[in-house]
Amino acid sequence: MHRQTALITGCSSGFGKLIATTFHDNDWNVIATMRSPEQETDLASGEHMLATRLDVNDSQSIEAAFSAGEAEFGFIDTVVNNAGYGGYGLFEQASESDMRSMFETNLFGPINIMRVALPKMRASGTGTIINVTSMAGHMALPGNSIYSASKHAMVGLTEAMALEYRPLGIRIFSVAPGAYPTTRFTANTDKRIDEGDAELVAYSNRLREQINSVGAQMASESGKIADPQEVADRVYACATSEMPIHSPTGADAEMLIAMMGQDNRQDFLDRIGTMLVPGN
Ligand SMILES: NC(=O)c1ccc[n+]([C@@H]2O[C@H](COP(=O)([O-])OP(=O)(O)OC[C@H]3O[C@@H](n4cnc5c(N)ncnc54)[C@H](OP(=O)(O)O)[C@@H]3O)[C@@H](O)[C@H]2O)c1
Repeated sequence: MHRQTALITGCSSGFGKLIATTFHDNDWNVIATMRSPEQETDLASGEHMLATRLDVNDSQSIEAAFSAGEAEFGFIDTVVNNAGYGGYGLFEQASESDMRSMFETNLFGPINIMRVALPKMRASGTGTIINVTSMAGHMALPGNSIYSASKHAMVGLTEAMALEYRPLGIRIFSVAPGAYPTTRFTANTDKRIDEGDAELVAYSNRLREQINSVGAQMASESGKIADPQEVADRVYACATSEMPIHSPTGADAEMLIAMMGQDNRQDFLDRIGTMLVPGN
């Protein structure tokens, strides 16, 4: 049987590494992209695995990674936009450059990738794109306004593009994780908490404590530690089976998004798609 190929961004850690391993374990060719492949030890290039450099903010590195992947494996069937970062902080604790950098990576990064992938997929009349968004892309989280804004943009972009590209044979999905203990994501989160004047710092610390305590309570009520492999499995399911456009993933995300009454959203989107998008 034809072995399919996936290109994944942000494979140096967290979900990206697990997504790469999951596809590889399921007999896919994997182009595991990362900013510093020379430091990578787990996902070394080998049989059906190409570990190669790609910075989502560097167009040349994107073109080079696609070319290297195509030279090795041929057509790239699935692209996973996973690279991104978060960070706790009040709106005023972020500088303009912090805000622009976050949008560059979390929104324009996937846009840069999709602008390269889509013409190739359209020429083949097939392909799948999976965007790792966030629960924060469906419900805005205090203390995460810029991150929430970047992920809301990604959720909106994905939703419109999923409908737009469906008649052209290209499937586009959002996998929206809740909170997961991926080490770097968690380690980097609080670096702005002590920025700004005394009022901001005191309020930011109080808000953080409250968020941590609600998070801990939800985790203890659910009775299990969120396993990041769930996200990798959901991404793989999108690549290989019929799935809704939006996949909230994790007990917290599923519960909070259902609380927002979005559980019938797929029916709504199907109606909008039928109403507005001509068939091919
Ligand atoms: N963990 C969570 O609770 C959670 C929840 C919802 C959504 N998410 C989303 O899940 C995705 C993966 O996060 P994670 O939790 O696995 O965190 P992570 O372990 O910090 O991984 C993030 C990955 O993105 C890469 N990256 C950052 N900027 C990049 C750039 N400019 N170009 C290429 N790669 C870049 C990092 O590479 P370097 O090693 O080079 O920095 C790293 O490989 C992100 O989009 C994040 O927003 C995470």
